[in-house]
Amino acid sequence: GAAAFSGSAAATFVFGGGKAVARAPVIAQPIANDTKKLVLDLAERPAALPCFDGKTLPLWTFEEGSLYPIVRMKLGERLDTQYANHLPRAGEYVSLHWHGLRIPNDQDGVPFMTQKPVEPGSSGTYSFVPPDTGSFFFHTHCNTDEHFGRGLVGALIVEGDEIEPSDAEYVLMMKDWRLSPEGTFLPFSTDAGAAKAGTSGTVRSVNGEKTAVFKVPSSANVRIRFYNVDPTRISEIGFEDGEAAIIAIDGNGLDPLPLVSWRMGPAMRIDILLRTAPEGGKVRLVDFFAKEPVVLAEFVSEGPAKRSGAFVPTPLKVMPFPNVDVGNAQIIPFIFSATATGEALSEFAKSDVEIGSLCLTKRTFWAINKQAWSSMDHRDLGPPLAVLKSGQSYIFDLQNTTPHSHPIHIHGHTFEVMSSSMRHVQPHRADTILLRPNERVQAGIVGGQPGKWMFHCHIIDHQETGMMGYIEVA
Ligand code: C2O
Ligand code: CU
Repeated sequence: GAAAFSGSAAATFVFGGGKAVARAPVIAQPIANDTKKLVLDLAERPAALPCFDGKTLPLWTFEEGSLYPIVRMKLGERLDTQYANHLPRAGEYVSLHWHGLRIPNDQDGVPFMTQKPVEPGSSGTYSFVPPDTGSFFFHTHCNTDEHFGRGLVGALIVEGDEIEPSDAEYVLMMKDWRLSPEGTFLPFSTDAGAAKAGTSGTVRSVNGEKTAVFKVPSSANVRIRFYNVDPTRISEIGFEDGEAAIIAIDGNGLDPLPLVSWRMGPAMRIDILLRTAPEGGKVRLVDFFAKEPVVLAEFVSEGPAKRSGAFVPTPLKVMPFPNVDVGNAQIIPFIFSATATGEALSEFAKSDVEIGSLCLTKRTFWAINKQAWSSMDHRDLGPPLAVLKSGQSYIFDLQNTTPHSHPIHIHGHTFEVMSSSMRHVQPHRADTILLRPNERVQAGIVGGQPGKWMFHCHIIDHQETGMMGYIEVA
C-alpha cells in the first residue's frame, strides 16, 4: 500500500510558472496477467547501419531485422523467453541478464553463478513476471565488451505507469562503435583503455544513426526513453532549448525534475517528458559532456498542435518499494579503487582458474574493498563483498578513490540515492549510480530476494578487469 512508499512525496520544483503542489504518489497496479512469449536468436548478422558510412560490419544481434529489439509488456504480465545461441565462435557461451529487474536470482542470467551458460548450438529459457514498471534492458553477462561492441543489447519496457498518457513515445539507445578507417571492428577492449576511463568508441550513434531524426506531433508532450547502452561513454544529456522534465530514473518515477542536463554513465536510463516545438520547428537532444556539444537527435514537429498552455508534467505512478529504515540501517563501506598487480590482489584474485574460457581475464586494474574480480567466468567464486538479510535496511557508503567515473550497478535491487559528498542530490531510486571522480555517495538498500547478486562497475572494461564482486542475500 501507499504507506510502504518511501521517497520524496512533495513536488519541490515549479513548472509553467505555477505553484508547487504536493502530490501523493500514485501506486502502479498490474494492468494485465497474460504471458508474453519472446524468442531471441543470438547470431552474427552483417549490417550497414547508417552511422557506418556505407560499410557493412559483422554485428551480433538478438533477432533478424532489428538492431536492438524493443520488448514491450504490461505490468502483471509474465515474460517467457526462449533464446538460442548461434554465435559464430566455439566456446562463446551466453546468458541473459535483465538489467534493473527485481526478479528471482535463478533468472538473473549470470553464467556459472545463477545458471549454466548456454554454449553455441544450444538454447535456454527464462520465465518471470517483472515486478516493476519502467525502462529496463537486457544484455549478456560474459565477454560483454565484445557483445556490447557488436550490438547485443535489447530494451525491455514494462508499461502501466502513466497517469496522463503522453502524446507519443520514442526509445533512444545511445551507443558508440569501434570502427577502423577501413570499416572493420577495432579491438573491443584495450589495456590502455581498461586501465583508465574504458575503451572508447570511434563513431557515436543513437539507434544506429549519427543524428537520429524523429518526426513528432507539434506542441505535444512526448515521452522519450533514453538509454546509455555504451560500454564506456559518460554523457551529459539535455536539450538545446525547449521545455523538458525527467519523469523517471532507471525506470523509477519521481517528481518531475526540470531537465537542464543529466549525467549518465553506461547502463543508466532516464525517461523524459518533452514539450515539442510548434509546427515546423524542432528541438535538439544534445550531449553537453565534452567542450563541443554533440547533437544526438532531432525532434521535428509536424501537424496541428496537440496542446496549448504551460508545460506542467504529470508524474508517473510509482512502485511500492520497501522503506529504507534509515535509523536502523547498517552502514557498509565500499571502496572503489585502482589496484596494482601482484601483491595488491586478494588471494581470490590470484587463484588459478582454468584457462580456455573466452570470458577469462587475468588482467586486473580495479578493485572493490581491495578485492579484484579476476574470474570472469565466475567458476571460482571468492567470498561475497557483503551479506545482507532479506528485508533488512542498509546504507551503502560508496567511495570512489580514483580519478575516473564509475557507474555502480547492483543486480536484483534498487538503490535509494540519498546524498553525495560533492553535489546536491534529489533523492531518487536507481539501479546504477554514477560515482564521479573521488565522489562518495550514500545509497539506501533493502535486502531483496535470496541469492548471489553481482555488484559491479558498468564501464565494461572496469567490470572485466576487477571492479566486480557480489552481494549475498540470505
Ligand atoms: Cu547491466 Cu551486471 O549488468
Ligand atoms: Cu568503473
